[in-house]
Amino acid sequence: MVAASGLAPPRAAAVCPRTRCFPRTSFLRFAPPVAPPPPQLRCCSSTVDDGVVSAETSKPRLPRVVGMGSKLVGCGSAVPTLSVSNDDLSKIVETSDDWIAARTGIRNRRVLSGDETLRGLSVQAAQRALEMAQVKPEDVDLVLLCTSTPDDLFGGAAQVSTEVGCRKAVGFDITAACSGFIIGLITATRYIKGGGLQNVLVIGADALSKFVDWTDRGTCILFGDAAGAVLVQACSADEDGLLGFCIQSDGNGQKHLNARTLNDDSILSKTNGVPGFPPRKATYSCIEMNGKEVFRFAVRCVPQSIEKALEEAGLPASSIDWLLLHQANQRIIDAAASRLDIPSDKVISNLANYGNTSAASIPLALDEAVRSGKVKTGHIIAVSGFGAGLTWGSAIVKWG
Ligand code: ACO
Repeated sequence: MVAASGLAPPRAAAVCPRTRCFPRTSFLRFAPPVAPPPPQLRCCSSTVDDGVVSAETSKPRLPRVVGMGSKLVGCGSAVPTLSVSNDDLSKIVETSDDWIAARTGIRNRRVLSGDETLRGLSVQAAQRALEMAQVKPEDVDLVLLCTSTPDDLFGGAAQVSTEVGCRKAVGFDITAACSGFIIGLITATRYIKGGGLQNVLVIGADALSKFVDWTDRGTCILFGDAAGAVLVQACSADEDGLLGFCIQSDGNGQKHLNARTLNDDSILSKTNGVPGFPPRKATYSCIEMNGKEVFRFAVRCVPQSIEKALEEAGLPASSIDWLLLHQANQRIIDAAASRLDIPSDKVISNLANYGNTSAASIPLALDEAVRSGKVKTGHIIAVSGFGAGLTWGSAIVKWG
């Protein structure tokens, strides 16, 4: 897995003192400002056959190009079949549809069951995004699986990439909880602009149901499982669809929202007189959340983050066609819209049907909005994610 902190630009790129964000141009320092000569990005596709890894080629696939734009050209999503309503939950914890709907806006959520897997949902979402973008799997260069709940602790992107048929692509995971998709989206654009890649699949997928304490009414009412994907494609600089962005984190807030590894016992264990060896198998705690603190953090930081992204884009809030926030709580969405003075008919919300699906929530809501004809080519969307870490980030994007 690759942590979001891997995004930090070289030291020379200072945080802007005015916005406290990394300036977009700072990422261009990965390469010289003019079209550079080799060294070039060397990609090679490899296959494992009978345990032997064979690299097909080490020829550079594309020259490294700096100064391109990137645009969102396709989206897709997938949700599990099992729907769990507030009334269903009221049979296992002391709660009610009225309480949950009034405090969160959520009425239903989807939960993985039977032989459904996060990988399966991710593959379906990716295939639908490619179909909309009319891009063949073999033309995808990079697959980013943004998830905190992969089927495999070591990450799932490579397997998803292979199942989708992206045989030339490199795949890796990004772990940043509910901010994962935004960070993945921005990472994709950096690889296109600085790395000369053509097509990047960004998948946001999570199955928090696996880490929920289903006896804790403070958390189990909030979460659902899903996957969503977008295809980000290189374009000319004047078609650039990423107009501004801002990503931030603050580890001091980790105590308010986490699912920790539980291996403290191993330090105390003694085998053959050697303290703590061999270590015991680690497990994870269920999601632990101080809801009030997370709520306060989101209401304070999300509008600020969108304002910073707008400032970088040089756009006023009135130019936003759609506000699309991480679908955590309708009250957080309403507070942010009100602070930014964005009317409710410009706010995308589908959390009533799916709850908080973590990294999947933004691409899932985007996919529904595009397919229903709400979001049209050229529309400007302010997207913002926030969650565990604590991490948060916003991007001003143009669709299509
Ligand atoms: N049903 C009925 N009563 C409940 C429930 C429930 N499901 N949950 C809590 N209560 C009770 C509490 O026990 C408390 O009762 P008391 O007053 O007798 O003590 C009362 O309701 C108020 O509880 P609070 O926790 O103060 O309720 P609050 O208004 O803060 O709402 C909520 C809780 C919905 C969790 C809210 O704090 C919230 O949405 N926080 C943000 C969560 C969030 O966005 N998380 C993002 C996660 S993103 C990621 O990275 C995973």
